[in-house]
Formats: sequence, structure tokens, C-alpha cells
Amino acid sequence: MKKIVLTGASSGIGRALAIELGRRGAELVIAARRKSELESLAQEIAAVGGTAHVLVLDVANVAAVKEGLAEADRMLGGFDTVIANAGVGINDPEDAFNWEDVERMLDVNVRGAFATLVHSIPYLRAHGGGQLSAVTSLAGRRGLPASGAYSASKAAVSVFLETLRVDLLAENIRVTDIQPGFVDTPMTQRNRFKMPFIWSAEKAASYISDELEGAPGVIAFPLPLDMVTSAVSMLPNVIYDPLAKLMLDRNKHKQE
Ligand SMILES: NC(=O)c1ccc[n+]([C@@H]2O[C@H](COP(=O)([O-])OP(=O)(O)OC[C@H]3O[C@@H](n4cnc5c(N)ncnc54)[C@H](OP(=O)(O)O)[C@@H]3O)[C@@H](O)[C@H]2O)c1
Repeated sequence: MKKIVLTGASSGIGRALAIELGRRGAELVIAARRKSELESLAQEIAAVGGTAHVLVLDVANVAAVKEGLAEADRMLGGFDTVIANAGVGINDPEDAFNWEDVERMLDVNVRGAFATLVHSIPYLRAHGGGQLSAVTSLAGRRGLPASGAYSASKAAVSVFLETLRVDLLAENIRVTDIQPGFVDTPMTQRNRFKMPFIWSAEKAASYISDELEGAPGVIAFPLPLDMVTSAVSMLPNVIYDPLAKLMLDRNKHKQE
């Protein structure tokens, strides 16, 4: 039975993933800021046969992350899997350079994810190995117009995971970068542009749970967007820049 610490569990992908992993028999620590959402989720997980412990945690507070992981270790009696999923995607069409928004994405998506990953390592070592993962995004494969801070925040975590994967190999700690395309969650329900190949949170959760079993280096989905973003990541700037500008203008036009 897996013992899992999952951040960002109160909503969207994290919530669906917690239920799916609970259904598969995992014992989880479900972490986020909203206690009432976590408490109702814990009941839902119990109803499908899993066990969940609630941990109220703001990942932007690094000291709290460290303490929270120690608390999770006590609640679970050691853990073997970590999924750093907490994240924010702020996309203000009026102002893509609002510093408060940029700072929030750095604090939660970068500092919060890095802190969760780094401070989990001693517990996985103590366990004799395990699985360390984070939910990044296909949006991190290239700087997306009007979403630069979000793309950059996810790219930072992906690059960090890439090195952790090698650094921790000899210690039997498998590292997985989970890169979703569009998933229907409160985060994307605010978007007013068309989101190609969008998946439900339940479909994403089921896919991630299946794939995590094999502990691959990267879990990217859906396949068509995985392929498109791979190809786009290799385009020279001379082709990418006008294409990205075209996309930006089209989305702006749709939002007017
Ligand atoms: N939806 C997509 O299309 C998509 C695509 C690619 C990647 N992702 C990534 O998937 C992850 C989950 O996103 P989602 O779509 O499921 O969004 P969501 O429904 O808005 O959920 C975000 C989760 O993160 C938690 N969170 C936010 N700030 C936090 C903080 N400071 N401390 C602790 N928890 C915090 C939220 O809980 P509280 O508010 O209760 O703290 C919530 O549980 C994110 O990392 C996102 O970037 C999403």
C-alpha cells in the first residue's frame, strides 16, 4: 500500500487524483490551504476505501512546508510517494505583467514546489527510496505569449526534476515530471479562449495514477498536445515568434 503526500488536493486535478489513489488503496496526506474542502475530500476518500489525513498547508511558506512534511511523516508512519501538485495559474488578459500575479506564481509554483521536493528527500531516503513527482505543465515547454510567468514557473520545476532524476537515481528515488495539457478545473474554467483536447480532472487523475505505477521520467498528456508542444519547443525563434504572436492576437480577438 502506497503512502502518499499530495499537495494542492482541495480542488481540480489534486482532488480527483486523491480520490483515484484512495480508490486504489493508498493512504494519503492531503494538503492545501482550505481545511473544509480537505475534510469533505477525506470523507469521500474513505467512502471509496482509502484513508486520508488532512494537512492545512500554504506551500508558499517554506518553513510551513518543512514542518508539514514532518507532520505528514508522523501521520503516515513514513511515506514513499510525494506529488507536488499545488499551483496557481493567473492569466489576466488586461495585464500579463502585474507584479503581484508574477510573484504569486513564483512563490507557489516555484518556491512551493521546490520546497516540497527538497524537504521530502530526507523522508524518502529514510524509507529506503520512493517516488518524487510534481505537476508541471506542457505550457513549460516554451514561453507562451501572455503567460510568460506561468510558463517560466513550470519550466523551472521541470528542469529541476530533470536533474533530480539523475541525482537521486542511485538512492532508489524515482523522479517523475507530470506535464498535463488542458484539464477542466477551477483554474481553467476562468479561461475564455478555446482549450484544445481538454480532459476532465477524473480522466487526468486516472491516467496519472496508471502511469505513476511504472515511475516514468515524464508523464505528458494528451498525446496530440504532447506532440505539438514537443515540435514547437524545437522551432527556431524566427518561426516561433510570429506564430506565437498570431496565437496571441487570435485569443485576444476571441475575448473581445
Ligand atoms: N488545469 C490545467 O489545465 C492544468 C494544466 C497543466 C498543469 N496544471 C497544474 O496542475 C496543478 C493543479 O491545478 P488545477 O488545474 O487542479 O487547479 P485548481 O483547481 O485551481 O487547484 C489548485 C490547487 O492548488 C492549491 N493551492 C494553491 N495555492 C496554494 C498554496 N499557496 N499552498 C497550498 N496549496 C495551494 C489549491 O488549494 P487551496 O486553494 O485550498 O490552497 C488547489 O487545491 C497546478 O500545479 C497547475 O499549474 C493544470
